[in-house]
Amino acid sequence: MSEATAPEFINVRTEGRVGVVTLNRPKQLNALNDQLMTELGVALKAFDADDNIGCMIVTGSEKAFAAGADIGAMATYTFADVYKGDYITRNWETIRSVRKPVIAAVSGFALGGGCELAMMCDFIIAADNARFGQPEIKLGIIPGAGGTQRLPRAVGKSKAMDLALTGRMMDATESERAGLVSRVVPLDKLMDEALGAALQICEFSLPSVMAAKECVNRAFEGGLADGVMFERRMFHALFATDDQKEGMDAFVNKRKAVFKHS
Ligand code: HXC
Repeated sequence: MSEATAPEFINVRTEGRVGVVTLNRPKQLNALNDQLMTELGVALKAFDADDNIGCMIVTGSEKAFAAGADIGAMATYTFADVYKGDYITRNWETIRSVRKPVIAAVSGFALGGGCELAMMCDFIIAADNARFGQPEIKLGIIPGAGGTQRLPRAVGKSKAMDLALTGRMMDATESERAGLVSRVVPLDKLMDEALGAALQICEFSLPSVMAAKECVNRAFEGGLADGVMFERRMFHALFATDDQKEGMDAFVNKRKAVFKHS
C-alpha cells in the first residue's frame, strides 16, 4: 500500500484520539495474507506517528478476528521461498514496534496467525463468542508468528502445549480464566468496551502510558532483575515530565488533571 492508495484489506478510522483498524477480508474470515499485514503495519505506524492519536484498536468481524494465515497462499510456498523472502519477519511484526498501546478487540475466530496477531497487541478484550487456538499442527506446520513463545507466557506451559499439540480451540471463558484475555463482554458490547478502555488510556499522560507499556513488555520478554531495573529508571525519568507535576498537583488540590503529554 502506498500512502496514496487506499488499503484493500483493512478499514481505518478514528474515534476521538483512538485509531481503529478493522481487518476486512470477510469471505476468507480475515485470513492474513502479506498485503493485509503490510497494510496493517502501515496504518498502525501512521497512527503511532500522529500526535492526535493516543491509543489504537485492532478488530475484525463478528465471525472472525482472523482465522489464521492465508492457507491458500501458503499452500505452494517452498522452504526457499519463505526463508529467502523472510516470510513473517519481513512485515508481520510491525505492530511490535508501535509504541502507543494497541488493544485487540476479538470476536469470533482468532486462530493460528490470528491468535498470534491478537497476542502481539498489548491486551485482548474478547466478545463472548471468541475462540482462540493454534491449529497449525493440523496443517503439518507449527505456529510461526510467535505463538509457541507468547502463548506459554500468557497461559502457562500445560495449556499452551495442549493447544499447540492438539489444535483445539479455547472459548472466551477458558481464555479469560487462563489469562489470555483481560475482559470478556457480550458480543454487542465489544467495541463499546474496547473504545471505552482506549479513550480512558488517551486521557492519561502519553509519556507515562508509553513507559508503562515498555516496562510491562520487559516483564513479558526479559528477566526479572533487568525488568525491575528498567522499570525503576523509567519511573525516575517520568519525574522529568510536566505531566507528573500536573497529575500530582491535581490530586493534592482535589481537581481533575489536564495532561499535555509532555
Ligand atoms: C484461507 C480461510 C482460512 C485461512 C478460513 N478460510 N480460514 N482461507 N486461510 N486460514 C476460508 C475458507 O476456506 C472458506 O472459503 C471461508 O474462509 C469460510 O470458512 P469455512 O471453513 O467455510 O467456515 P466455517 O465452517 O465456519 O469454519 C471456520 C473455521 C475454518 C473453523 C475457522 O475455516 C478453519 O478451520 N479455518 C482454518 C483455520 C486454521 O487452520 N488456521 C491456521 C492457519 S495456519 P470458501 O472459499 O470455501 O468459502 C497459520 C500459520 C501461522 O495461521 C503462522 C504464520 C503466521
